[in-house]
Formats: sequence, C-alpha cells, structure tokens
Amino acid sequence: MPDHFFRVPGDFIRPGTLTAGGLQAQRDRFAADPEHYWRGLGDSLDWIHEYSQVKDVSFDRADFRIRWFYDGVLNVSANCIDRHLRTRADQTAIIFEGDDPGVSQHITYAQLSEAVNKRANLLKAHGVKKGDRVTIYMPMVPEAAYFMLACARVGAVHSVVFGGFSPDSIAGRILDCQSDIVITANEGLRGGKTIPLKANVDLALLQCPNVRHVLVVEHTPAHYLTHDGRDISVPKALESMSADCPPEPMNAEDPLFILYTSGSTGKPKGVLHTTAGYLAWAAYTHQTVFDYQDGDVYWCTADIGWVTGHSYVLYGPLANGGTTLMFEGVPNYPTVSRFWQVIDKHQVNIFYTAPTAIRALMRDGEAPVKASSRASLRLLGSVGEPINPEAWLWYHKVVGDSRCPIVDTWWQTETGGILISPVPGATPLKPGSATQPLPGVQPCLVDAEGKVLDGATEGNLCLTDSWPGQMRTVFGDHARFLETYFSTYPGMYFTGDGCRRDEDGYYWITGRVDDVLNVSGHRLGTAEVESALVAHSDVTEAAVVGYPHDIKGQGIWCYVTLKQGVEGTDALKVELRNWVRQEIGPIASPDVIQFAPGLPKTRSGKIMRRILRKIAEGDTSNLGDISTLADPSVVADLIEGAKGLG
Ligand code: WTA
Repeated sequence: MPDHFFRVPGDFIRPGTLTAGGLQAQRDRFAADPEHYWRGLGDSLDWIHEYSQVKDVSFDRADFRIRWFYDGVLNVSANCIDRHLRTRADQTAIIFEGDDPGVSQHITYAQLSEAVNKRANLLKAHGVKKGDRVTIYMPMVPEAAYFMLACARVGAVHSVVFGGFSPDSIAGRILDCQSDIVITANEGLRGGKTIPLKANVDLALLQCPNVRHVLVVEHTPAHYLTHDGRDISVPKALESMSADCPPEPMNAEDPLFILYTSGSTGKPKGVLHTTAGYLAWAAYTHQTVFDYQDGDVYWCTADIGWVTGHSYVLYGPLANGGTTLMFEGVPNYPTVSRFWQVIDKHQVNIFYTAPTAIRALMRDGEAPVKASSRASLRLLGSVGEPINPEAWLWYHKVVGDSRCPIVDTWWQTETGGILISPVPGATPLKPGSATQPLPGVQPCLVDAEGKVLDGATEGNLCLTDSWPGQMRTVFGDHARFLETYFSTYPGMYFTGDGCRRDEDGYYWITGRVDDVLNVSGHRLGTAEVESALVAHSDVTEAAVVGYPHDIKGQGIWCYVTLKQGVEGTDALKVELRNWVRQEIGPIASPDVIQFAPGLPKTRSGKIMRRILRKIAEGDTSNLGDISTLADPSVVADLIEGAKGLG
C-alpha cells in the first residue's frame, strides 16, 4: 500500500469499533441481500407499528417514487427521548456551552423529556397540528433543540431558518412553506455581541400577514416589543403546560422537516425530509462514522440552522442516546483558544467542524491550540467543503496531536446524512479525500454526456440508487425536485459536485460544477446574490462568481454594471456590500465588487460565466474561445479592472 495512506493507530480500536473486517462484512451483506441489509437500519428504530415494506424506489421520471419503511408508524421525538428514559434518564443528553465562557449547562434525558413535552403541549395549545409548518429562527441554545423535538412530537414540520439570515430571507421562507407560527428568541449572543432575532422577525412579518403567533424565548434579560395577541412569552406560557404530551403516531413517510437551501437558479428551495428513513440514516451514520459509543462526549460545531446541525447536533446523536454538545458562540471569542478550552472543559472525545474554521484558526499558529490539553479527543471530523491537505495535516498534527484519525465526510442537505466518508477504525486515510462510500451508498462518476466512467477518472458525481436519508421532494414544487436532481442524467440523482476517483477507488470532491457557491461551508446561489444586487436602484446588471479564498474556501466576486450616469465610487461599493448583507444576510457579503461597464455575452445575450470565473481566479492566460462574444473588447477591460482586487 502506498505510503500516502494514514493508517489508524491500533489503540483507536475499542471493543465494538467497526474495523476493516466488520466494514467489509457490511458491504458483503449489502451486496448479497440489500433489502436485508436495509432492514438492519430500520430495525434500529423504535416503532409504534412495525414496518414490513423496506424500499420502494424508482428514479425514472415517468414512474418516480422514493419510499422507505413505508408502512411503519413511529415518532422521531419518542426515538430521540422516550426510548432512552428507562436506561438513561440521568445521563446528559445535551451539554450547552454559552457564548459567555462562564455559562454552561447539562441537560439530562429526563430533563429533555420534560422540556420537550411541555413545549409540545404549548404548540398544541396554539393550534399547531400534525402536518402544520412551524418556522424556527433561534440562536444555538437548547430551546432550539427543544422546539424542534416538540414539533416532531406533535407531527408538525419544522423549518429552521439560520439566525444569520435577514428579515427578507425569513419572510421568503415563511411564505414559501405557509407557516403561521414562528418561534424565535428575543436576542441571540455571538462573540459578545447581541443579535436582534425578535426585531428581525417583526420586520419579516410585515410581509407575512398569515402568521398567527410568534413564540418568544427569553434568552437574555433584554426587553422586546410585544405585539398583543400575536406574540407569546414562552417562559410565561410554559407555566401552565403539562409535562405529558403523547407522541403523535407518524407514518414513516410523513414529513419531518423542511430546510431551505440554495441551488443554481431561483430562490432557495425547501428540501423536504421525512420521518423514518431520515432518522435511521442520521443514527446509523452518526454511530458508524464517529464510532460513537456509550459515554462518548460528542461535539459538532454546526449551527442548527444548517443540515449538519439537524442531523449531527440533534437527531443522529439523540437517536443513539448520545451526549451532544451545543455551542452558542464562535471560535475566536473571547480568544482563539475557545474551541480547545471547550474541549478540555467538557472532556470532548469527538470533534466535528468545518475546514473554514480550521483554516482561520491555523492562521493564529499552534500556540493557542497547544495551550490546551485536548487529551480527551479521539476522533476529528470535517464537513462542508473540500479540506485542503495543508489544513488536514494541521488539524491532524496540531489539534489531534498526530493521534486522532480524521473523518472527512461528504454529503449535502439533500442527502440527509453522510454518504462518502472514512469509517475511522477501518479506512486508511488520505489527506483531502472523503475516501469511500458508506455501505449501501452507490456513487458513480459520469461525463457531460451522462456516460458512466470506470476506474480512476474524473466526472460529475451521481448516485445510482436511493438511501434512506434521501430528500423526498422540494416542498410545494415536486416538478422542480425532478428537474433539479433527476433530469441532467436520467435515472440518477445528480449531486451538483465534481469528483475525481483515484487508482485506489478513493473519492476526491473537487467542488460544485453548477452555479452554487460554497462560502465558508455555506451554500449560496450566484443567482440569489445577483438578484439582490440588481434590486439596488443604481445597478442595471450583475454577474456573480466564486474565486479561491484562503479562509472561506470560496469568496464572492461581483461584476456590477451601473446605471448610466452613476459613478462607481468606493462609497458605492460599501453601500452595495451592505445592501446584499441586508437583503440576504452577512454570509452573502461580497468580497470583491468590480464595476464593469460591460459583461462578456454571447450574441444571444447569455453571460459567459466561464470567462468571469477565470478573470476572478486571476487565470487569464487561457480564456478559451472568446470570438463568439458579442463584444470581445470587454474582456480586456475586465482583466485590467480586476487587477489588485482579489
Ligand atoms: C460541499 C453540507 C467536499 C459539496 C453537509 C456539497 C463537501 C455541498 C464536503 C453541500 C466534503 C460538503 N468535501 N465538499 N467533505 N461536504 N461539501 O447542503 O459541494 O450545506 O454539494 O450540506 O457542500 O452543502 P450543504
């Protein structure tokens, strides 16, 4: 075996750890009898009525369906809480670490049960029924978890909106899923600053007359404006709620949640996940990929506003009866040692974060890491974007003291859980590669014409068959679901990612091949940023592309054509940047704004993004054929104008 493999140290293996032999046995079982293999996952859940049917899938557009365990009845909150009460009532379910390092809390399964039951009754008391959509706009605090689980308990479908999104973005999501209840907090805290969550909701609701109630969690002592009849103080309303709310029996295929995510065109779409398949996949992958075992303290730094927070802060760990840490703050507050201090404080064994955080912390050198012990750590994880080998090695050597394996986990909002990843006790690692598909996952690489490519090759990443955690539809727009994922390569799910497979069969994700940006691990559509820019009165046209950024992975480069007579000043750049932040949220903040009197267009008026990408990347030696442009001279102007900007 070539020496670029990192072998997992022998002492990583504990009784119960899945080793190479065990992993191969799983693959063999899947190959021999897929249905029987999948049954193993379904059987890990606690059913109200057992399922008999395992899988019913066709990716053929004429006869499309995805159903898993579909005649069974269960409840997700019962799986995450009730079934653990007999053996784990006093075990910590959630460790909360506040933004302020002086604030932390341990919540046992018994306490979680009481909190969730009360909030489920609160939802019911405000008219929330099975199938209703509930929007949650919250900081990273246990209340967010309580309410997500309370929705699951009463059969309501939650739509969590990341706390960094703007009032406009919240409104768009509320209206799209027609939710008439919003849950928020008066304020959030991040890096010592307050986030005006309730005020943002108030602004959003100017556009949402359908919203009946706003339930307000009082996270800080700060006063907030109350709209009589509409706004409800959660702590007050809870006083009269009983701690007993029987879980709603849900069909396996009933919706569990909607999560909005950006695509290459149009507005963000509501990715819909259902009950049994999603939970079974979140639980299986959390156990397998993180070698999660009883007593482990596990910390995923993702915000619950993203899918990683759904599957790997909340549902996966709690379905497994685990202890999951929720961190409200940021990596550099009060100091850049914060992550490592939290690891020592709570004796964290498994740590899962994003490459962008690792790259940012790398800049501060080893000393802030080495000031901590981190002896409790046994496994590190990475998610959200490709991890460059330099960041991988730093993570491994400095954070993990060359002792902890790294699981580089590839997946998407749409996949519900991890699909390609090392299994730490079994898979030799290569820095920068997500290694191999988990058992049951069937990726393939195809060329532009849809021809399946064999062996060591590079192409577009597709999946030829379903897995239980797969999204089932785009909420309210099934045609868009089929169009987006199943029309590019008929009969396959197209991920939107490019990928290389090496001679060892290892997968190396190369990034999006569509117009989706990945900025600090956050997905953004170029079309979203463009439509925010053209909504400004000084702008006639905008084209947005990604370019390599040291910390963020990708930065946002905006080519902006101004209206006749408007001068492209630095002040206007600042104004446009603030405008986009206000329209979408700070994560969409442009890194570069380049005023462009003209954009490269074909004679039919289509913007040639390929050329704009090359200019932003500073790679102008080989622009390809530009003779088809309506006005090839704009290219030289753009190259000149780009100098010194990136
Ligand atoms: C990218 C986040 C390389 C990829 C879970 C995917 C990754 C998009 C990795 C999904 C990884 C995620 N290596 N790229 N380990 N993990 N990606 O929906 O481009 O926010 O399509 O889900 O992130 O982002 P999403």
